[in-house]
Order: sequence, then C-alpha cells, then structure tokens
Amino acid sequence: MNFLTTNSFDRSELDALIGSALTFKNGSDVTKPLTGKSVALVFFNPSLRTRASMQVGIYELGGNAVILEPGNTSWTLEHREGAVMDGDKTEHLKEFVHVLERYVSAIGVRTFAELKDWETERTDPVLNAFAKYASVPVINLESAMHHPCQAMADMMTIRENLGEKKKKVLLTWAWHPKPLPMAVPNSFALAAAQFGHDIRIAHPKGYELDDELIDELKAHSGDAGGSVEFTNDVESAFDDVEVVYAKSWGSKYHYGNANQEIRERAVYRDKWIVDETKMARTDDALFMHCLPVRRNVIVTDGVIDSPRSVVIDEAENRLHFQKALLTRLLK
Ligand code: CP
Repeated sequence: MNFLTTNSFDRSELDALIGSALTFKNGSDVTKPLTGKSVALVFFNPSLRTRASMQVGIYELGGNAVILEPGNTSWTLEHREGAVMDGDKTEHLKEFVHVLERYVSAIGVRTFAELKDWETERTDPVLNAFAKYASVPVINLESAMHHPCQAMADMMTIRENLGEKKKKVLLTWAWHPKPLPMAVPNSFALAAAQFGHDIRIAHPKGYELDDELIDELKAHSGDAGGSVEFTNDVESAFDDVEVVYAKSWGSKYHYGNANQEIRERAVYRDKWIVDETKMARTDDALFMHCLPVRRNVIVTDGVIDSPRSVVIDEAENRLHFQKALLTRLLK
C-alpha cells in the first residue's frame, strides 16, 4: 500500500493514524516494528523537517534510513516511459526502483513541482512513476501536488489544541517574492475536508486551486459534514475562524512564466500578509504554517511569536505521524 495523498486512507483510518501518532508522542508506544528493515528516502529537493523527522523516526522504530539525492549523491534520473536517454539523465527510474526494492522495505520520495508545465505537473508524474514501478510501499514526502504527511501532522495539531469536533478553518494565500508549488495548500485543504472541518479558502483572483481538487474537496466535505467556501477578500476571510493556515502558492495560469507572475503579484505585497490586525478578527485562532516561512513577508513576527502560533508543534508532529504511518505500512 502507498501513501501518496491523504485519500489513500478513509476518515476512520486517518483517525486511527492520529491516535497512533499520539501514543508515540506521549511515550506509550515504544515498539520497534522496523527492526532489521531499511527505508530509502529519495530527495530531489532540499528539506529540513521532512528529512530529519523521517530519519529520526525510522531510527526510533528500530530501522535504518538510506538517503539518496538524485543528481547529487546518486545518478540523475529519467522517469518518462520510452525516453531516449541521450541527454543529461544517467539512470532510469525503473532500474533505480527495482534495485532499491531489493534492499529496502519502503521508499519515501520528495519531488517538487518545477512550475514549468501545469498540465503535466498537476498529474504528479515523478511520484506516480515511483508508485508504478515499486512493489514496496511508496510514501509521498511532498510532490508537485501533495504533501500528505504535513497535512496529517497539521490535522493532529488542530486536534491536540482544539479537540476532535469540526472547526472553522481558514487557508489563506500570502504574498511571497516568487511562485511556490501548491502541494501544501492542496493537501491541507483535502485533509481538512476529509476531517469535516468548515474550510474557507482565501486567495487573490487568479490563484484558484486545481479544479479537480476543488471537486474532491466538495465531495469529501459533503460526506464528512463540513463545508467549503472561497473568497478573494483578505480581511473578512479572517472573521470568526478558529484556525488560520497561511501558505503562498503560484498561479496555475502563470506556470512556466515566473517573471510575469512576480510582476503581477507585486500588488498583493503588504496586503496578503497575516498580521495582528487580521488575527484580531478571528475567534482567537491558532496560527499555522508548514515552515520554512519568510518572517514579515508571509506572517509578522508578532503573530508567529504569539502564544497562538503552533508552527513548531506542527513540525514536531511530523515525527510522530510518520512513525505511525511507517508502523501501519510496514508492521
Ligand atoms: N514542512 C516541510 O516539509 O519542511 P521541509 O521542506 O524542511 O521538509
């Protein structure tokens, strides 16, 4: 079984994973189900939290992490089926995966969007190539379109702080000097819909999420007793919410044209930032962000350093959730 999006599990299984993560966190589960096993962690892109929490989690479960960085500490990789490999790619993903699975019990993959070709990247081609070739579980450690481990650590953090009942949750776009991938907002919104939260998504016009993902959100939300609404008003978006989740993302209409987008998004600077005035409109909301975050660009120091900021707890919960996930997939 793979964990490519939170959709890999239904609500009751996601609840059980959070329950298991809480037992790792409070120290009541000290089992070592990965004893004698290795897990490959394949990083096409940089990471602090994901890499450290996976490596520590695998160690704490009794296993061994094998970290590979294609194009750096391992060969450059081609993922396209039938490619004529006369360019700069040395090894095909097919051999890479088939060799690795002779050594390891699971493969974690981080492969960001390149922000070049929306129609291709929205299908998560590199992650899906891993899933296609692997006979061992593949874990998404952030792909072009999803970051499910982050989203589940975020759901766990909301539950720890505010309880299990549904909450009013704002996902707000924020200005950033350059376009960023949509994986975090997609997965946060999807998981929040699966957990039945009332979700408000705020962004400037032109920053709409993927149409298919929006349909998925609405379907899950309907099933789970929640709601989804969208707004372009960055002030009233904060009214009465209990959670503020900030993230910047790029416009799907400007994929492959970063310079034009950077010029056009300049008007949103200073307006689309999470600050004390906006937080005062909320119902004493938690402030959340997946990190890394640009201070006084995405969020003011006053908000991120406030007692309602749980950004470090979210990062800690990555460790506990991933231990629960590895235990579920490999026990
Ligand atoms: N939030 C997150 O995935 O952080 P890293 O990019 O540092 O792993």
